[in-house]
Formats: sequence, C-alpha cells, structure tokens
Amino acid sequence: MGVLETIRLRRSIRKYRDDPVPDEVLGRVLEAARLAPSAKNIQPWKFIVVRDPGKRLDLAKAAFNQGYLAEAPLVVAACGLPEIAYPRQGGFMNSWPIDVAIAFEHLILQAAEEGLGTCWIGAFNEAAARIVLGVPESVRIMAMTPIGWPAESPPARGRKATAEIVSYEKY
Ligand SMILES: Cc1cc2nc3c(=O)[nH]c(=O)nc-3n(C[C@H](O)[C@H](O)[C@H](O)COP(=O)(O)O)c2cc1C
Repeated sequence: MGVLETIRLRRSIRKYRDDPVPDEVLGRVLEAARLAPSAKNIQPWKFIVVRDPGKRLDLAKAAFNQGYLAEAPLVVAACGLPEIAYPRQGGFMNSWPIDVAIAFEHLILQAAEEGLGTCWIGAFNEAAARIVLGVPESVRIMAMTPIGWPAESPPARGRKATAEIVSYEKY
C-alpha cells in the first residue's frame, strides 16, 4: 500500500484475536519507529514491548480498565527521555513529546501496513504504569498501544473538511 492508503485504512482497534504476531512483523513495526525523525536527531525515546499476560492486564488496569489493552498479544509503551531531548524546540519547549509522538505514529502506521490493529492509549495513570514497567522517574511514558490482529473492522471515524483546517498565505 502507499502511505496515504495505509493512513486512510488505519483505525483504532478495540477488539483483537489472540493469534501471535510473528517476530519479523514486529521487527518491521519497531524499525518504523526507529527510523523516525527527531529534533537534532537525538532520538529521545525507548519502546517497551510487553508480552507477559499478567503485565498486560496490569497495564489495562493502569489505563482505567481499558480491557482491550490486554486483549492483543502485545502492548508497546512509548517512553520519552526529557533529560536528553532538545530542550528549546521552537525556542520554548522540550522536544520529547513531539519526537516520541512522531515515532509512535510511524510504528502505528507500519502496524496498519502489516494488517495489524493498534489503538493509541493516552488515558492511563503514569505512576501505575511506571511501576508495572519499571520505568525510572527521569523517563516519561507518553502512550501505549495494543498490537494484534483485529477482530473488528470499524468504519472510518469522521474528520474535519480540508477547508476547515487548511488556509493559504495567512491564518
Ligand atoms: C493522544 C491520543 C490519545 C488517545 N487516547 C485513547 C485512549 O486512552 N483510549 C482509546 O480507546 N482511544 C484513545 N485514542 C484514540 C482516539 O480515540 C481515536 O484515534 C479517534 O477517536 C479517531 O479514531 P480512529 O483512530 O479510528 O481514526 C487516543 C488517540 C490519541 C491521538
């Protein structure tokens, strides 16, 4: 598929089969994250792959009982490293949330390209997830996603029209 077609077909998936994800497929998904751009090419990220069923359940609990997080055979947590990220992106902000979000979206799009489902999970208790994953205080957990074969094919969720979100020459 071309990039735009993959983007068009991707959905947030909240029902999964428990069939395993082959290592070579997961490898390509992680490679897409690894190749993402970042401010000053610092790559201030770490991705934690969780297979252990007990840990996946604990992460679902940390995510306010979003059970589908534990339904897929894999969870990936995207972590940011503020201490090494570029501190003045745009002159005013640490680049880590932008860098990690770009890399995570790369991962999600490659998963879609492979026919895998994902769902960006931003609603979770970071302190609880930190304990489950052994993440040090200096590292932030930005998002998590289940990765697995979809057991649903939801319709496209609507988007604003181009005319509403794009202007030319001025705001
Ligand atoms: C920053 C962010 C946080 C999100 N957090 C959650 C979440 O905690 N739980 C969930 O089920 N979906 C979450 N989503 C998924 C969105 O609800 C979803 O992307 C949106 O409704 C559009 O649907 P689509 O992804 O199928 O196009 C999140 C998405 C983003 C980008």
